[in-house]
Amino acid sequence: MSGDDAAPAASAALRVAPDDRLVSLLRPTSFEADQYRVLRHTVETMRKDANLHVVAVTSPGVGDGKTTTSINLAGALAQAASARVLLADVDLRRPAVTHQLGLEDSRGGVLELLQQPELALADVVQCLPRFNVSVLPAGRGAVAPYEALKSPRLEALLDDARQRYDYVVLDAPPFIPVPDCRLIAPRVDGFLVVVAAHRTRRRELAEALDLMDPAKVVGLVFNRDDVPASTYYSVYPVSPRQGRSRRSRGGSPVRQTPPADSSRARWDT
Ligand SMILES: Nc1ncnc2c1ncn2[C@@H]1O[C@H](COP(=O)(O)OP(=O)(O)O)[C@@H](O)[C@H]1O
Ligand SMILES: [Mg+2]
Repeated sequence: MSGDDAAPAASAALRVAPDDRLVSLLRPTSFEADQYRVLRHTVETMRKDANLHVVAVTSPGVGDGKTTTSINLAGALAQAASARVLLADVDLRRPAVTHQLGLEDSRGGVLELLQQPELALADVVQCLPRFNVSVLPAGRGAVAPYEALKSPRLEALLDDARQRYDYVVLDAPPFIPVPDCRLIAPRVDGFLVVVAAHRTRRRELAEALDLMDPAKVVGLVFNRDDVPASTYYSVYPVSPRQGRSRRSRGGSPVRQTPPADSSRARWDT
């Protein structure tokens, strides 16, 4: 899946300590990071089987864990040394990727690319060589997010990204409160829908799923789950030694469940 045409981009270093929830980057051998590898496996499989290339991480509302999930998914995908992974922040009203990663966004990002045709991806993408991830910040343009995302240039931008990267992970806007995510829906191959344990209401999830093309719903990510780790053993068997150490760690930050299997998820009502 690698090639010679990955976008050349500036290298960036993390300037401040990033959020410790970013386990795929900071604690890649942890139990929590393993849960994101489950997600990675799904995305890798669907890339092969269903040509899933541009995957958007959304959720019904704000604060469900979209940014955390996007960064960890990108980090998990990028653990394959040959994978070319772009993490793009298209949640233009509440951009958070650069902040969570402790990166500068002064070089611009999505907004500048959409407004300035002379700019190329490589002009604004920041490479994190330590993590094998390229980051496209949201940018700082003055244009309204709705107008920016409606621009036909968004399609061209994502097409360019498809050519240059094996996986394009979009930290997307929430689906219900603003129309932004509906604007990008035709341009993405699939959605991962984050469901926050004890937070996302069943009717909000139902409303969000109703607004989506069912064929594009790749799966639900059950975030901040506090189900005991032993739940996983039947699904992902481990050796007795590993099992004991994992059991002592308690819950998991993320669990993926297919959309039809809502019985495995629990929601606040
Ligand atoms: N699995 C998790 N475990 C602990 N904290 C989390 C987890 N996912 C998200 N958070 C925290 O919840 C807050 C909102 O998460 P964020 O990813 O920014 O949500 P969104 O992008 O949907 O608005 C952040 O403070 C983040 O650190
Ligand atoms: Mg966010």
